[in-house]
Amino acid sequence: MSFTFNTENLDKISALKKRYPSPKALVLPALWMAQYQDDFISLEAIEAIALVTETPAMEVYRVATFYTMFHLEPTPKKRVLVCKTLSCMLCGSDTILEHLENKAVEIEKVECLGSCGSAPVMQIDDLYYENLTPQKVDIILEKLL
Ligand code: FES
Repeated sequence: MSFTFNTENLDKISALKKRYPSPKALVLPALWMAQYQDDFISLEAIEAIALVTETPAMEVYRVATFYTMFHLEPTPKKRVLVCKTLSCMLCGSDTILEHLENKAVEIEKVECLGSCGSAPVMQIDDLYYENLTPQKVDIILEKLL
């Protein structure tokens, strides 16, 4: 398997390089781009990111494995990140988690997604879904699956 950033992502990387203090600061955005491009981050993608960010591949790998939102293997099911931190817990994230258990999705409980004012919150790909209810979850998943 090989990995090459597509033209759109290469253009984004070039544009971001002008805004960031160093190429290394692009590791996180480049990881997101690689993941959106292929749905996961392969070792070849890690090497491509290392090249464009002028960062040792091992450092890129360590960043990719540190954060739970990056997938280093293909995920057969849609991955749903559900915030389990205080605001979301108080506003019913347990109900949302319980409701999701019967769906064909991979559930991951995560720490605060930074949208506490609109709890409970879940994230699918790069989108946040807020003020959730079981009914809202059904509508969202019906459109996505
Ligand atoms: S506590 Fe859930 S988004 Fe912050």
